[in-house]
Amino acid sequence: MLVLGIESSCDETGAAIVKDGRTILSNVVASQIEIHNRYGGVVPEVASRHQMAAIIPVLESALEQAGCSWDDIDAVAATYGPGLAGSLLVGLTAGKTIALARGLPFLGVNHLEAHMYANWLHSGSDESPVVSNEDWRQREGDPTFPLLCLVISGAHSELVLVREHGDYELLGRTRDDAAGEAFDKVSRVLGLGYPGGPAIQRMAQQAEASFIQQGKPASAARKVYRLPRAWIRGTYDFSFSGLKTAMLHLAEGAADKEFSDDGKPTRQQTRYTRMGEQAAQHGMPDVALLAAGFQEAVVDVLAVKTRMAAQEYQVKQVILAGGVAANASLRARLKQELQPLGIRLNYPPIEFCTDNAAMIASAAFFHLCLGEQHGPELDVQPGLSLPFRKQG
Ligand code: KG4
Ligand code: ZN
Repeated sequence: MLVLGIESSCDETGAAIVKDGRTILSNVVASQIEIHNRYGGVVPEVASRHQMAAIIPVLESALEQAGCSWDDIDAVAATYGPGLAGSLLVGLTAGKTIALARGLPFLGVNHLEAHMYANWLHSGSDESPVVSNEDWRQREGDPTFPLLCLVISGAHSELVLVREHGDYELLGRTRDDAAGEAFDKVSRVLGLGYPGGPAIQRMAQQAEASFIQQGKPASAARKVYRLPRAWIRGTYDFSFSGLKTAMLHLAEGAADKEFSDDGKPTRQQTRYTRMGEQAAQHGMPDVALLAAGFQEAVVDVLAVKTRMAAQEYQVKQVILAGGVAANASLRARLKQELQPLGIRLNYPPIEFCTDNAAMIASAAFFHLCLGEQHGPELDVQPGLSLPFRKQG
């Protein structure tokens, strides 16, 4: 089954064609990162306007790159939430319209669920098609249920027990900021730009490399700044706002040290920005070490809580989903935590961790196999969460 997937929940416009939920025939993403970088974050009105401009060319490229015509497509899917209303509307309207015009089945996809299904994707050589009714559920190379999924994106941080396709139990969630949001906000404080995750990762790597050069262990670079961890014991919930505030105070101190010696008072925001800009150009140690300490604090809590939940619920597989799953330090630390316990860790290749349409097509395939479809009345749901089963 060939599914055309469309993604437009935030600042990426994506279209992809995926076969049987797994094999990518094409995956086109038009990113607005350059545009939003200027503002230090995503500006919703700007994002939706660019979605409008990008959607048709992106759809055309997806068909062309897959070597497909409209006649080859079996179903159409688009993200309907969560995300920015104006952005979501562009992709959802395009998807529903194509389905209606071509007489194809349509499915609205939950963006968070789609991040999880990025773990089912591969761009390898074509496989035999799914034939039997039940064959779609589990194929060689797929993650195996029951599994634990750590969903860590720009707006969500959740630990989810997944027993089967579509069966989700919420074990823990953030009580304030999402992990990606913390990366983005701290990056802004340090003047490192948007998106924050890759920028902070780069600075942390610089700090570690310079420690290694000085004959010190890389791990020492992560401990120069001791940052608080909110363990919220007895739960699998997260909290990152205290860490963010601690970073703000530390960054302020570091900035004072660097810029206030000449006695000239500077505005706070200017100081942070200058500090970050200089760091990006010259690798100023304070900012790099702050980034390393911050990243370590986030990774520590995410990795330990995930390992504890995996042990309690006795899963044999953990998967990562969402933009923060691209973080190299988190991947390495989780492997370290899980390998000795015989628990497998899977994460998508970096380009499928952040927003893309291949994951939308993949998630849609499994829901279509479960017999689900949506009509043209389906509207955007900016605040949509995963469809958790009711407790008790
Ligand atoms: O899943 P995603 O692309 O968009 C949402 O659905 O929110 O996630 C974007 C988030 C941003 O907060 C970005 O800073 C973060 O993922 N991110 C990273 C890395 N790459 C992207 N965070 C940490 N390390 C990275 N390498
Ligand atoms: Zn996303």
